[in-house]
Amino acid sequence: MKKGFMVVFDGSNGAGKTTVINEVEKYLIAKGFDVLLTREPGGTEIGERIREILLDSSSVKMCHTTELMLFGAGRAQHIQEKIKPALNRGQIVISDRFDAATFSFQHYARGIELAEIIQINNLALNGFSPEMNIILDLDPQEGLKRVKQRSQELDRLEDEKLDFLIRARNGYLTQAEEKPNTFKVVDASKSKESVLEDVIKIIDSLLIEYALDI
Ligand code: TMP
Repeated sequence: MKKGFMVVFDGSNGAGKTTVINEVEKYLIAKGFDVLLTREPGGTEIGERIREILLDSSSVKMCHTTELMLFGAGRAQHIQEKIKPALNRGQIVISDRFDAATFSFQHYARGIELAEIIQINNLALNGFSPEMNIILDLDPQEGLKRVKQRSQELDRLEDEKLDFLIRARNGYLTQAEEKPNTFKVVDASKSKESVLEDVIKIIDSLLIEYALDI
């Protein structure tokens, strides 16, 4: 059986990842593909417990290294328990965030040394990497406005200062510049329809690249 491939949706908080992911799932299912949706932090039972600790706004004492290692721990579990088996079954894996978020949030925004990020990420990834990262790019101020419209309470990371979120956004754009083959940036300030149109073009080219019928 042909191996599946993995696409990550990432970017600013409030950029519309969930809506886009649900539409992409419908699109792929309608074409007859077997799709697995997952997310980080989370994705497994253990990962979801780690997510609670990471995002709980009462985790105020969490030091930066703990934060980095918890994201790494969840990722290691996610790959072993869920992602690799799904790819081996020939599924298309769609993850709401993955390792690019650690570079953006923990390095570019939080300021943890790049060498430490690479060390933890490499340990978690153990040579694995997703085929594509689709970055839904949005001005964090607009993103924050959208997040506040949909929920009363902000989680620990959403509640960071605006300049933290701006640094995270720039982190995604920097990664996209550095790795144009595995990162595509989509302007998420456009209408829902045109964001989706841009995303579907990328998905279609991945289907061709990975030689799956469309
Ligand atoms: P979500 O709200 O999109 O599910 O993401 C949860 C938060 O976790 C979001 O603010 C981004 C942050 N995050 C990191 O800081 N590092 C990471 O490695 C990941 C996966 C997420």
